[in-house]
Amino acid sequence: MASSHFFLLLLSTFLTFLALATSGSIGVNYGRVGNNLPTPEKVVTLLKSQGINRVKVYDTDPVVLAALSNTNIKVTVDLPNQLLRPAALIKTFAVNWVDRNIVPYHPRTQIEAIAVGNEVFADPKNTTGYLIPAMRNIHQALVKYNLHSNIKISSPVALSALQNSYPSSSGSFRPELIRPVFKPMFDFLRQTGSYLMVNAYPFFAYESNSDVISLDYALFRPNAGMADSGNGLRYFNLFDAQIDAVFAAVAAVGFEDIPVVVTETGWPSRGGGNEIGASVENAAAYNGNLVRRVLTGGGTPLRPEVKLTVFLFAMFNENNKDGPDSERNYGLFYPNREKVYDVPFNLEGLKDYRPVNGSGSGSGLWCVASDVGKERLQMALDYACGEGGADCRSIQPGATCYDPNTLEAHASFAFNSYFQKTGRAAGSCYFGGAAHTVTQPPKFGKCELPNGY
Ligand SMILES: *[C@@H]1O[C@H](CO)[C@@H](O)[C@H](O)[C@H]1NC(C)=O
Ligand SMILES: *[C@@H]1O[C@H](CO)[C@@H](O)[C@H](O)[C@H]1NC(C)=O
Repeated sequence: MASSHFFLLLLSTFLTFLALATSGSIGVNYGRVGNNLPTPEKVVTLLKSQGINRVKVYDTDPVVLAALSNTNIKVTVDLPNQLLRPAALIKTFAVNWVDRNIVPYHPRTQIEAIAVGNEVFADPKNTTGYLIPAMRNIHQALVKYNLHSNIKISSPVALSALQNSYPSSSGSFRPELIRPVFKPMFDFLRQTGSYLMVNAYPFFAYESNSDVISLDYALFRPNAGMADSGNGLRYFNLFDAQIDAVFAAVAAVGFEDIPVVVTETGWPSRGGGNEIGASVENAAAYNGNLVRRVLTGGGTPLRPEVKLTVFLFAMFNENNKDGPDSERNYGLFYPNREKVYDVPFNLEGLKDYRPVNGSGSGSGLWCVASDVGKERLQMALDYACGEGGADCRSIQPGATCYDPNTLEAHASFAFNSYFQKTGRAAGSCYFGGAAHTVTQPPKFGKCELPNGY
């Protein structure tokens, strides 16, 4: 009795710490291509009320940057593609741009990064040749104002920059972009301690391949997963598979150490007749399950240790965007600031979050026993099956997971049960250090550990 209370104390002591240590981070893109959007002041009030503490904007609008000042919201700004040419060719242009658009706002407005251009390789006006020199010149300008250690520079890359993305382990960049762009970009990112920005849309892949990609796999709902024939890793959602294709492509160029931030992802709540999969239910499932996956789910199968930072696209439906109907319907909110559907934005919001029809866990994450010795493992197992309330019926004599009858197997089953049952809450795979998470399905004899909540 005394020892289990002590143990409980240990658990709760580490809970707060773990919430910080294991959780990824969610941001939102605040696009403004609409004629009916709320004022920036009202948008900032909305961001605060939703507990959103990271935003990305597509320019450096003075009213927006002023509205974001003296908040706890971190901001990524953008130097638009039209300015890449002068920023690349004229050093004083880059200095003046930083002087006018960054210096007056930072640090009251917490600018954490500058996106130099956006999806530059997909821009019909080919500005690819200006990208790297522009990034360097903007960095030099930040150095001049001694802002370079606080503000990172990068450039969001669309997944169309990949030559191969399936299976993920074969991920590679388009060959013509490697030498002129990606090598110098990764050198730059490494030297400046920055990260690669990636815009990833499982929706596009699903929309055009709905005959072979299952909707459950695209929406993080329970599914059998897909094995990567290259390395045998198992994927339980398309998002992870896309991000790992990027990690593989970056590694193939020789830069395993470059971090990745997902600067855009989303799912439209409406689309035209031929836009398969665009619906409120699917958008709610994608975004809700994605947020849960990022805040509770660890890294990807290829990079289990990374903490993901993911920016949802987008804050509002934007009625002036070009393209198919879906383009104007990615918003989490209507212009009148009402929710299109319910999505939590942080661990606090996740606690009360009850998805309408997006529940489940299409993200492979299990909790298993660590090698900490018999005594600690037994104590943790007793706690899990006792006060912890794990479902331990399957490890009783004669039940399906009694064999193999080892402490490691039984403890893993119990820890995993507790972990999934609590919705993979922060700190729920700890047990005083006797447990850890894995992204690949663990198997003990014929006993498969459940994945999902
Ligand atoms: C775009 O410009 C780069 C260099 O500036 C060039 O190498 C590339 O071939 C161009 N791409 C297209 C599609 O014109
Ligand atoms: C919930 O999702 C299932 C598919 O997993 C679907 O059959 C069902 O119609 C959905 N229910 C609602 C209310 O959208």
